[in-house]
Amino acid sequence: MAGDGTVILKGAGYLLRPLRHEDASSLSQFTNDENYWRYLSDGPRGPAQTKDFVAGLVAASRDLNSGEVWLAVVDPKSHYASLSLVGTANIKSIGNPEDRSGSVGCTLSPDAQGRGLGASLGWDLIGLAFKAFNLHRVECTCALDNEASVHIMRDKYGLTYEGIRRDHRLTPRGWWSSHVFSILEDEYGQRE
Ligand SMILES: CC(C)(COP(=O)(O)OP(=O)(O)OC[C@H]1O[C@@H](n2cnc3c(N)ncnc32)[C@H](O)[C@@H]1OP(=O)(O)O)[C@@H](O)C(=O)NCCC(=O)NCCS
Repeated sequence: MAGDGTVILKGAGYLLRPLRHEDASSLSQFTNDENYWRYLSDGPRGPAQTKDFVAGLVAASRDLNSGEVWLAVVDPKSHYASLSLVGTANIKSIGNPEDRSGSVGCTLSPDAQGRGLGASLGWDLIGLAFKAFNLHRVECTCALDNEASVHIMRDKYGLTYEGIRRDHRLTPRGWWSSHVFSILEDEYGQRE
């Protein structure tokens, strides 16, 4: 894993860098906001829970055997400052490494939503998953009522809709179901 200040990717209006322990303080500024959680299966979280949550993600990202990498989405104007965090992103391995299957996901602070960042970020993450992580299949999921994400995945990216993964998680809000979309490496190559 790259050092904490390393820029992984320069996107349109944001940078991706490794998530750091200090990011917990800026993340906790919006992790108690219902607008942030409305389409996510866990939360809301207070500052102490957010600190533990971030510590777990940083540890997983530094463990090459964990199969997951968590990144900070930051304002390009001040990416070394903790306060510049506007969201999180992740790439995770699914199943056996030889299957080269994985998922990408992201969240944005309520202030950063609705400005085109999510659509740009999601496609960049898919590209990173194929190009840097050499995946064959990339999966994207979202909550059943997350119409903005469905619009982005289906209409903007042209991902293949695989259906609903029913009741795959038991959350504090009850059983959680998700829409599942996917894209294969040759399809990504054609669209790029
Ligand atoms: C979901 C999320 C990542 C989208 O990012 P964003 O920056 O807000 O989205 P964008 O501004 O890039 O694009 C939103 C698109 O959805 C459209 N949209 C917004 N609300 C919509 C709705 N209710 N129904 C249909 N389309 C909708 C917008 O018009 C826009 O499409 P357009 O460019 O064709 O006009 C972001 O809102 C977010 O972080 N939400 C909370 C966390 C979350 O749900 N994460 C899971 C993501 S799978």
